[in-house]
Amino acid sequence: MSELYDVVIVGGGPGGYNCAIRAGQLGLKTAIVESRGRLGGTCLNVGCIPSKALLHTSDLYEAAAKRFPAMGIGVAGLTLDLAQMMKQKDAAVDGLTKGVEFLMKKNKVDYIIGRGRVEAPGRVVVTGAAADSKILETKNIVIATGSEPAPLPGVTIDERRIVSSTGALELTAVPRRMIVIGAGVIGLELGSVWRRLGADVTVVEFLDRVLPTNDGEVSAQMLRILKKQGMKFELSSKVTGVEEIGESLLVAIEPAAGGAGRTLEADIVLVAIGRRAVTADMGLAECGVAVDRRGVIAVDDGRTNIAGVWAIGDCTPGPMLAHKAEEEGIAVAQKIAGQWGHVNADVIPAVVYTSPEVASVGKTEEELKAAGIAYKAGKFPMSANSRARANHEMDGFVKILEDEAGKRIVGAHIIGAGAGEMIGEMCVAMEFAASAEDVARTCHAHPTVSEAMREAAKAVDNWLMQA
Ligand code: FAD
Ligand code: NAI
Repeated sequence: MSELYDVVIVGGGPGGYNCAIRAGQLGLKTAIVESRGRLGGTCLNVGCIPSKALLHTSDLYEAAAKRFPAMGIGVAGLTLDLAQMMKQKDAAVDGLTKGVEFLMKKNKVDYIIGRGRVEAPGRVVVTGAAADSKILETKNIVIATGSEPAPLPGVTIDERRIVSSTGALELTAVPRRMIVIGAGVIGLELGSVWRRLGADVTVVEFLDRVLPTNDGEVSAQMLRILKKQGMKFELSSKVTGVEEIGESLLVAIEPAAGGAGRTLEADIVLVAIGRRAVTADMGLAECGVAVDRRGVIAVDDGRTNIAGVWAIGDCTPGPMLAHKAEEEGIAVAQKIAGQWGHVNADVIPAVVYTSPEVASVGKTEEELKAAGIAYKAGKFPMSANSRARANHEMDGFVKILEDEAGKRIVGAHIIGAGAGEMIGEMCVAMEFAASAEDVARTCHAHPTVSEAMREAAKAVDNWLMQA
């Protein structure tokens, strides 16, 4: 029997490891249990970091091949060394996961390798490690077990030819033809990687738009941009099965509304239709922890319905994003330590790392209309921004939405190079309850792409100056 912990965290992703760091900082006796053998969760191992490493290098490759000549740069004999591209991606992952392990030591958190199961409130059993099973007694349990790819009925993922995002980050050759099922974040990011490296990519999407949770104008413009880049789309379509015939995969698709089907051929199929919470076989039902029918743990500010059992990140409701998990991890650690902790669900940014990037925070126009909230919109095109023009990066726009009655920014939507970095300004503005005028009257450095945000903010009050 081990000594009593203040908190045992099950799952070592961005939710779990940030919760552990903060708990350690606040002087709580903390353990983190992770079954993968490496800390960092989906994000560092098979998600955010490896995908961004490949998005960055594949974008440089495509720039050298297609965009450099217009800027007067000639590249003779451009080659792709895919093995090296994968190696540098793996090195980034390796360095970062080891860094998280160091942070556990630095903050006096016990890192226990193995599978955690909640035997009872206050009791976590760890199995599967090199040693025998271990029982951890604790005042608080934080479930941070994350998510995994959602399966598509009739399509068996083998991570070789029919892959989830995990397999799509490890391909050993550029496929000639790739079919991506789902035009969400993973489909467009990883579809972009392989298209840039030479694959003929077709995306099959059930709905009639790409990035369906984004602002409608963003979805429409991204569809145009991605098509211009050479990505093909079968919208309002569903995949009913994938059959392996020799070297080819035959993908059966049908109109989503029903009707005659067709077959598409591919070498690789990427299934990217969403992710589902990992909460099965963890003892939650036995302990009475409430989960919905999809296995998502019900929480109220991080607390489950059982005292002393908390849950954070992808296994709880809300967007499945690393920084949302991190935010919740910090808030829960603070609360366990008896301090204030809160997550502002209205200010969680989301970025799609395509080229150009898509970044958003807050409400979309569709959401405001549906809620009957009167709003003003200000918009500025990247084609009128001097830095974007000088850089040959003119696709996109900034749109700022202000609640008319309260004069508060309630949403911001950006398509543009560097949009992911720019959205931070909008998050700070929203946290400080800024109006569009506050942003419009803030001096922005020239020439920067972020001046487009100032112009969009001016446009809210009809004093757009530079377009
Ligand atoms: P996870 O990161 O999933 O970590 C949970 C951990 O718990 C896992 O390591 C798992 O092994 C472990 N675990 C599960 N069950 C047990 C158990 N019983 N015992 C012990 N350990 C257990 N988000 C972004 O914000 N930005 C991005 O750019 C981004 N890119 C992504 C790209 C891809 C390809 C994918 C798949 C996801 C991406 N995400 C991104 C989403 C992001 O990875 C997740 O939102 C984030 O990792 C969730 O963190 P988490 O801590 O809740 O769970
Ligand atoms: P997603 O929810 O973003 O997109 C799934 C898409 O598949 C949707 O457009 C949906 O309409 C479509 N779809 C669902 N069923 C379908 C079917 N049977 N046939 C065709 N299309 C179908 O999910 P995705 O892309 O798998 O990513 C999962 C999550 O991972 C994201 O929601 C996000 O939270 C996270 N993520 C975040 C990233 C980022 O922040 N940059 C990058 C990658 C993933």
